[in-house]
Amino acid sequence: MADSIGVAVIGAGMAGKAHAAAYRVAPSLYRPTLPEIRLVSIGDVNAEFGSLAARRFGYSRHDTSWQAIAEAPDIDVVSVVVANSLHREIVEGLLAAGKHVLCEKPLSDSIEDARAMASAAATASTTARIGFTFRRTPGIAYIRELIRTGVLGDVLHFSGRYWTDYGSDPKGPMSWRFTGPAGSGALADVGSHLSYVAEFLAGGVKEVSGGRLATVITERPLPLGAVMGHDHAEVSDEYDAVTNDDYATFSAAFEHGVGDLAVSRVAAGHANSLIFEVFCENGSARFDQRRPAEIELFLNDDSADHSGAARNGYRQVVLGPAHPYISGGLAMDAPSVGFGQNDAFAYQARAFLDEVAGFSEEESLPRNASFDEGVHNMELLAAVTASAENDGKKVTL
Ligand SMILES: NC(=O)c1ccc[n+]([C@@H]2O[C@H](COP(=O)([O-])OP(=O)(O)OC[C@H]3O[C@@H](n4cnc5c(N)ncnc54)[C@H](O)[C@@H]3O)[C@@H](O)[C@H]2O)c1
Repeated sequence: MADSIGVAVIGAGMAGKAHAAAYRVAPSLYRPTLPEIRLVSIGDVNAEFGSLAARRFGYSRHDTSWQAIAEAPDIDVVSVVVANSLHREIVEGLLAAGKHVLCEKPLSDSIEDARAMASAAATASTTARIGFTFRRTPGIAYIRELIRTGVLGDVLHFSGRYWTDYGSDPKGPMSWRFTGPAGSGALADVGSHLSYVAEFLAGGVKEVSGGRLATVITERPLPLGAVMGHDHAEVSDEYDAVTNDDYATFSAAFEHGVGDLAVSRVAAGHANSLIFEVFCENGSARFDQRRPAEIELFLNDDSADHSGAARNGYRQVVLGPAHPYISGGLAMDAPSVGFGQNDAFAYQARAFLDEVAGFSEEESLPRNASFDEGVHNMELLAAVTASAENDGKKVTL
């Protein structure tokens, strides 16, 4: 094992800061087995964003080009956290330079680019992974455990939505999220998460149908300065066309059961609502990202006799050290202390650092998803787009 691992994050925007913070926290979780983690550089073409993030999260420097990070001998591990259309060039450059790469979802904004990235990963001497952060969400991981161990049993029906409202203000500034081909909008942005979670629970999607994409706010004002994440910014009087979807829906047949999924970026009142209910052989479970430290559980067994049936209903399960990730995964890992989405980024970073450091999966957290899984996720979303472009017709994967 190396004496130390040097880390960089490319992109100091909304999610880049979560990666930067996660590498700080990751070595402090669970057992202190990692070698020294050196927080080396934050790379961002916007020098102000890069410099601020480097100082805030304790990185030694900032760079303004990804090439500087690729060439730096003191950097081993790089998170790529920039607009999806930029992933391919940067990831391929980093892999060619011998860096380990953790790329944000979706893998790219085109299937061709995603497949090329998976080929580059397959021949690279280093590790390439994609961060589907919600697999690290303790409540979602626990529901999967309940399914896999037979407590809930196989999925019959999954019903999920990922509603966000970052695009609901028509005066909100144009940004990279609002441009690109059909399916690269809400479907790629939050639909990539929701469909990954659905497959995480119900197994691979075999076919989709009923695809519908809609752009309901068709133009947006150009910003007068840099825009970070979903932030509002001062805008000009000039407008550009929105070229991708604000809303997407489809139904799916999984390895186990069927389901309906809907995503939106114009769902006013829902800043970040990943919500699903999964109905299984032996009961059901509910998850709502707005209350990430709990799930709701219903078990058919509890109503085995008449008096049980009269009392039975969904129960609240408050998550704590008995559930995935929490024991040792929080500084104070006592029951009911609460946790959220930023913690999932730390578990993701720890899994990646453990893999790079050479720990086997048995002595580490579950691995992050592979680039091949990233390609599959994009093929699934492309099938939804194909269905939408053909009046909702069935598309087989
Ligand atoms: N896992 C999650 O929960 C999650 C959440 C949000 C975003 N994301 C993903 O993270 C990625 C970034 O999204 P975001 O919301 O953080 O974007 P963002 O717009 O907030 O930030 C992107 C940053 O990249 C910088 N940048 C642009 N071109 C660059 C280049 N060539 N080299 C270096 N830096 C460059 C910009 O200046 C900006 O600071 C996307 O792939 C997105 O899908 C994931």
